[in-house]
Amino acid sequence: MVKVILLSGSPRKNSNTMTVLEECAKYIEKEGVETEIISLRGKDIKSCIGCLKCTETENCVLNDGLEEVIDKLREADGFIPAAPVYFGTARGDMMSALQRIGKVSRGNDKFLNGMVGGPIAVARRGGQSLTLQEMTMFFPINGMIVVGANYWNIVFAGPEGTALEDSEGIANIRLFGENVANVVKKLNE
Ligand SMILES: Cc1cc2nc3c(=O)[nH]c(=O)nc-3n(C[C@H](O)[C@H](O)[C@H](O)COP(=O)(O)O)c2cc1C
Repeated sequence: MVKVILLSGSPRKNSNTMTVLEECAKYIEKEGVETEIISLRGKDIKSCIGCLKCTETENCVLNDGLEEVIDKLREADGFIPAAPVYFGTARGDMMSALQRIGKVSRGNDKFLNGMVGGPIAVARRGGQSLTLQEMTMFFPINGMIVVGANYWNIVFAGPEGTALEDSEGIANIRLFGENVANVVKKLNE
């Protein structure tokens, strides 16, 4: 069965980013595509140290749990990373994760090539557009297919548990999920 991995970059327990991904996953599954949501919460994600050992070992050697995420992505057909906006850009752990995932893919079997997805940014008030642009850089350089919806994938939410109040943002995320699922299915017919 085809599968989409959704990755949350929030450290918070009742995270808005997780709520958004749960909603996205629900609409992917409605189209008959399997999903798995993985959170970076509780992980201490390190930045790439440029050691290039991944070209010998086929996975990252930093040993902080990201190697398991990479193993799962190797088997997946879609990838949706979502980050809270911190000071106008994506939370650092998410960019560290994307840079290491991309390096392992490019230095080895290019498992990201042809994978379907797109990024999501969640913030209280500002910086979502730049965060989306920052995260989107990861997709084309890795040969990935970015899917659109009805608007950019941004959701407005501040305090924990408020993401569903942005009805327009959530409606767009639901449509994005459906679109990702349909492209994944078409490519795997
Ligand atoms: C360190 C820090 C920086 C933040 N910077 C921004 C920002 O630049 N723009 C904004 O709109 N919200 C900012 N926020 C608010 C979060 O993006 C917002 O609360 C979001 O819902 C958090 O997502 P989460 O619940 O999934 O962690 C910041 C929050 C923190 C803790």
